[in-house]
Amino acid sequence: MEQQDPGLALARQVYARIDATGTAVFPGELLEELAAHRAGSADPYLRAFLDSVLARRDDRFVNRHYLALPLVELVLSDPESGLDPDRLAALLMADVIRHEVRTAGRPDAPAPAVLAKRLKHARRFVAHALGEPDTDGCPVTGLPEPPATRAGAWLALSVPRVSARHDEYFFLRALQCHELTFTTLVADVRGATTALRAGDSRRAADLLEHAVTVFGRAALLFRLVATMSPEAFGDFRQHTEGASAVQSDQYKRFEVSCGRPTAERLASLAFDGVPTVRAEVFAGHDDLSRAYLDAYADRPPHPRLAAAMARLEDVHQRWKTTHHSLASRMLGDLPGSGYSSGVPYLSGCLRNRLFWRVGAAECPMPAAS
Ligand code: HEM
Repeated sequence: MEQQDPGLALARQVYARIDATGTAVFPGELLEELAAHRAGSADPYLRAFLDSVLARRDDRFVNRHYLALPLVELVLSDPESGLDPDRLAALLMADVIRHEVRTAGRPDAPAPAVLAKRLKHARRFVAHALGEPDTDGCPVTGLPEPPATRAGAWLALSVPRVSARHDEYFFLRALQCHELTFTTLVADVRGATTALRAGDSRRAADLLEHAVTVFGRAALLFRLVATMSPEAFGDFRQHTEGASAVQSDQYKRFEVSCGRPTAERLASLAFDGVPTVRAEVFAGHDDLSRAYLDAYADRPPHPRLAAAMARLEDVHQRWKTTHHSLASRMLGDLPGSGYSSGVPYLSGCLRNRLFWRVGAAECPMPAAS
């Protein structure tokens, strides 16, 4: 099997080294050897994998490559595996659970009480992503298994850590889950916009209510990451400079699908790292705020839709506040890895509103009755 799949075989060898040391200390000659393999390969999975491993060498160490998103996206789009963003997020978090259980007791693994908390949040995330009831135990259908496809085999190789520090594994997976969760949120908000343009306010309200629920899952990721100590974070973070969730395409896509950001924010660091999304904004893509203002220019807004938008604004504000607290605890006065001022940048972001064009700045929504 390995002989028939040289790309996978090579990646598995490289991955064993990642497990042992992380990519940050890979010697120069190994990096050049891997770059030659990449140049000579037409296998999209191997190329995506090596793009991540070689990102620092290529001078493009950004969020997308640190999180191996090109590889994750290939797995997501594989028709044989039949995954959607929620199912894939559940699989990635199930992998975190297995990894934590497998490595429990190692010198830099969390103490039993912290591990129990981490596993609890991870299990809740899996259950939520599978659409199962929120319990503190295992999802009722058990942990999902990766598909028995080639893409499924590559999924096991999609945590290209920079260090051998135990906690980097679950941190990286949490950020991949963030990207997938916001993929679902973008689909909800875009779907609501389309429904509203078609005159179906009820469908738009349903989709936004779903988005509010999905935000609960996004918030779980902060609780999960809060089980890491600032010391563990600081240990691998010294090698992640340049990669930051400020470059998350899906987070910014969610924001612009709700409404065009202010000119000030569009011109700021917030959008510097997401040129594709900024281009989408200038290309004039539709957004929910615009559709809402057009639909209700001369009649009262649909009450359930208005209420769902107000709730989405509210859960997003709470999400930002939790992120701010987590970053304060982990970073203190240090700047962010995305070259922002760190916590002061995030404090400024608390003032932004998704639906600022729909109403007054402090109370952006029409009364939801
Ligand atoms: C150790 C934990 C974390 C710290 C210290 C932290 C810190 C920061 C900082 C300082 C920024 C500003 C940009 C920069 O310079 O990097 C940022 C941006 C961001 N972070 Fe985090 N973060 C953490 C965890 C997370 C997690 C777990 C998520 C998602 C689940 C996340 C999502 C985001 C997003 C979406 C942004 C962009 C915000 C914007 O531009 O408005 N962060 N983070």
